[in-house]
Amino acid sequence: MDSLSEIAEKIKNCRRCELWKSNTNYVPGEGNENSKIVFIGEAPGREEDVQGKPFVGNAGKLLTEMISKKLKLSRDDVFITNVLKCRPPKNRDPLPEEVEKCKPYLIEQLKLLKPKVIVCLGRHSAKLIFELFGMEFNGISSIRGKFFEIKTEWGDSKVVAVYHPAAVLYRPQLREVLERDFEKISSAINLKNTRRGMRTLNEYFDL
Ligand code: URA
Repeated sequence: MDSLSEIAEKIKNCRRCELWKSNTNYVPGEGNENSKIVFIGEAPGREEDVQGKPFVGNAGKLLTEMISKKLKLSRDDVFITNVLKCRPPKNRDPLPEEVEKCKPYLIEQLKLLKPKVIVCLGRHSAKLIFELFGMEFNGISSIRGKFFEIKTEWGDSKVVAVYHPAAVLYRPQLREVLERDFEKISSAINLKNTRRGMRTLNEYFDL
């Protein structure tokens, strides 16, 4: 199996859909390769396309704030990626055929990372992850903030979806919901630690 950097190299040569023609940079994802928590967004926006890094624009600042304030972790402790690795023109929604063609990269990343917790940022990510793990997806509002146990080829894992940080910036009244959902993620991680004894978060992530 390829390493994460080999997958990133493959992504940087990708011609599976048309998005390579309009992108500035590919955005394969980044973070701690040993992290047991993975955040999956929708697709790079303008700033991500310029920098080649996920979640570095305004939505990224909010995500980074949630990770540090609510989970007491830094971006470098976790792995962050997207459903699509290229920016759709004018930030339009991903097309079903783009998701289908890009999906194998995300699957390969997940198989290597073997996450214990997958956090879906927004409906496009939640829809794909639910479908991949054979669960019915009926919209983000009904599932956000709930933990779903999944069986994967790397063992038991959990999926949780939250509102997309960009949606929260657009509708500030959702911020409280996002904060509460991140608090739930924090306690789910801590609960696991407590059951296993006096583990620190980092030890948990190294499991
Ligand atoms: N929105 C996303 O879904 N992903 C990013 O990387 C940035 C903004």
